[in-house]
Amino acid sequence: ILTRRNLLKASAVAGAYSAGMGVAGRFGLAGSTPQPQVLKAAMTEALLTAAGPTRDVMTWGDGGPPPVLRMTRGRPFAARLTNALDEPTTIHWHGLRIDNRMDGVPFMTQPYVYKGDSFDYAFTPPDAGTFWYHPHCNTLTQMGRGMTGVILVEDPADPTFDAEIVLNLRDWRLGADGQFIAPFRPRDAAKTGTYGTVRTANWQQEPQYDAPAGSLVRLRIAVTDVTRVYSLRMEGVEATVIAIDGNPVPQRFRLDLLQIGPGQRLDLAVRMPDSEGGVAILEDIRGTAPKTIACLRAVGQSLKRNVGDLAPLAANPVPHADLSAAEKIPLVLSATAENASVDSICGTLGYSFWAINRLPWPGDIADPTAPLAELKLGKSYIFQLENVTPHLHPIHLHGMSFTVISSSTRKVMPLVSDTYLVQPDEKVQLAFVADNPGDWVLHCHIIEHQKTGMTSYLRVA
Ligand code: C2O
Ligand code: CU
Repeated sequence: ILTRRNLLKASAVAGAYSAGMGVAGRFGLAGSTPQPQVLKAAMTEALLTAAGPTRDVMTWGDGGPPPVLRMTRGRPFAARLTNALDEPTTIHWHGLRIDNRMDGVPFMTQPYVYKGDSFDYAFTPPDAGTFWYHPHCNTLTQMGRGMTGVILVEDPADPTFDAEIVLNLRDWRLGADGQFIAPFRPRDAAKTGTYGTVRTANWQQEPQYDAPAGSLVRLRIAVTDVTRVYSLRMEGVEATVIAIDGNPVPQRFRLDLLQIGPGQRLDLAVRMPDSEGGVAILEDIRGTAPKTIACLRAVGQSLKRNVGDLAPLAANPVPHADLSAAEKIPLVLSATAENASVDSICGTLGYSFWAINRLPWPGDIADPTAPLAELKLGKSYIFQLENVTPHLHPIHLHGMSFTVISSSTRKVMPLVSDTYLVQPDEKVQLAFVADNPGDWVLHCHIIEHQKTGMTSYLRVA
């Protein structure tokens, strides 16, 4: 019988990719594929709390947080995923507009990488900025236990900073003994998602970093948590927002308070205090009391730099949608009455709480294998996203970036992004050009929402 899973399996085989084929970058410069960077998915232990090492942590490499991957815009990148876990895995390169065969979605774009197997990823990142990577199967466990890493795509023309600090923000669901507890509670999955119990930046609680006094620091923040939405502000210092979700903001602005959800990134230009020992604190003020995320401490003599001297970041080569010709795609985010155990992309949690256009994935519909919409290659589209739930949903589109056009609840900048944090009762228009062929997943990045129905996919052909 034709089930979605079988269909996806079949298409994964048809599209099977081998490293020898080579990938000509769609946007990139020609160039030979470099030696792959080996990313070994493996179990490890980590010191996350005072209770002693946490066991059964998952990462890439031989221990410690996943490496920060550095790529250069327009230059080929290659990584070999080897799997030393006891379960299948893949890597999805969140926000990178790359070839569909490299997108890391099992059954849809590639086969599972089983224990002991490997998979070669090779692509040319077309955009500069802060991105991230994570598996796309059994994600509540694999991401929840550590597999979320930051990607920096650099452009030789990027403005020069005196220092760069990367912050990978995420929680861990640990008990008092420092060991993992159940990754979720169904009643929370049906609301905001289940929060972690220990909050970290770069796998440390409230880490402190030194930076030259009076310097300009590029602070690259990625929210890689499976659940938590942050309301970020900086205390004791002036911080300027220069990019959101990897893309330069149309106009820089002073960081007052910014809400950023799972999957999103924020690049700040931080002007360090002039006096030695001066401290800048990154705080999350969502919830009851402000929570310190990380501290920057000024060291040495002031460099007396001025944020006004920073050259702007160049816009990424994301195509502009033709708004007059664009076809509209309604997307209604809702709760679902259906409460059956449903299968999902990359596994299920055994519940169905959420839906896109009233259908949880895959739902009891005539053709469960059908994409949500079939888009014509090269045509412009506008998502008309409507959130009829009382919760926030960071909606992420694979393979293409969109521009935020308008919102029913607030004034928006024309931000270019891959993840939009939809507010309760908000209607928003997101425009994009369907310029990347393949099947592309569209889902909420609160992983419990994703895995209990708020997932679908688009076909571009
Ligand atoms: Cu961060 Cu489906 O992805
Ligand atoms: Cu959601």
